Amino acid sequence: MTEPSAQEQTTPADHDPAHVEVDNSFENDSSYGDELSRYTASLTSSVLDYRHENGRRYHRFRDGSYLLPNDETENDRLDMMHEMFLVLLHRKLYLAPIKHPQRVMDLGTGTGIWAIDFADEHPDAEVIGCDLSPIQPTLVPPNVKFVVDDIESDWVDEKDQYELIHARYLVISIRDFGKLIKRCYQSVKPGGWVEFQDWDGYPLSEDGSIEDTGFKRYYNKVFSAFEKAGYETRPGPKLEQWFKDAGFVNVHVERLIIPYGVWPKDPHLKKVGAWAQAQAETGGFEGSALAALTRYEQWTQEEVILLASEARADGRKRSVHVFFHFYVVYGQRPEN
Ligand SMILES: C[S@@+](CC[C@H](N)C(=O)[O-])C[C@H]1O[C@@H](n2cnc3c(N)ncnc32)[C@H](O)[C@@H]1O
Repeated sequence: MTEPSAQEQTTPADHDPAHVEVDNSFENDSSYGDELSRYTASLTSSVLDYRHENGRRYHRFRDGSYLLPNDETENDRLDMMHEMFLVLLHRKLYLAPIKHPQRVMDLGTGTGIWAIDFADEHPDAEVIGCDLSPIQPTLVPPNVKFVVDDIESDWVDEKDQYELIHARYLVISIRDFGKLIKRCYQSVKPGGWVEFQDWDGYPLSEDGSIEDTGFKRYYNKVFSAFEKAGYETRPGPKLEQWFKDAGFVNVHVERLIIPYGVWPKDPHLKKVGAWAQAQAETGGFEGSALAALTRYEQWTQEEVILLASEARADGRKRSVHVFFHFYVVYGQRPEN
């Protein structure tokens, strides 16, 4: 996959909803510091034989196939990301118009926080979360269960099973989204829905403030390593076509803005941006880069930490107005 040009990264051609006004007043932002520092999350750690490398812990099942850590720092980060997505979607877990779901699958469930929230909201549904890592908590609602499996390998006996299959934030996790979405088509019941929520991973700015920043350098270096390793870095804008190619109907696309930091004037976007920054500062820059750059580009741990710290420092600057596009796409398997 080719790296987007500077023009593509800073001036999206079709970004009508992307104009985000900058908040030039500084006085309200301390409240975000308080809000973020009050955040706590606790998760049980697994006793399995995980891989330890460069001070981080990685999954062992299908060793090496996922390049982000699965340690407590990363799990806290994923739970913060969950809160960011809930703020973004006005506390909705999904947007597909499902009715009375009986069986629901969450692909790449991570800490299982989406599956747990869904199970709480739908006590009559059986919710299954699938992941390479058994990092989910053990105290969960009775209608949720977790399985360890590789969603990119063949799904056995999984035809016509679910009213909803959900997958969120699988950018830089999955190599072949098109194939995965075709499998979802087979596994969802006729009339059922599949919803993917995912990023266009490259950051943008409307005013060019991303240029010459460590933030931009970080994404270019890290994502070119992921691309070299075969992972999809920009699934969001491609989801609609993958859904249509798989045979889904009633395909619906929402493109949303995720700012980085508290620079937007709009209070909703400011809050989303605060969470985006908070999760990245919870080990996110290092965690997302270490395995990709050390395993695929021969960087040292120290070099990665420096790259991450420059990204973090530039991301904190009030003059840097960076945002991402995030897509929610759902489609229905035809009744017949
Ligand atoms: C970035 S996290 C997102 C977690 C969760 N979906 C969320 O939104 O909070 C990606 C998750 O996908 C899992 N994953 C990556 N590749 C996978 C695969 N081939 N099969 C199953 N899970 C996978 C990882 O272990 C990780 O927990």
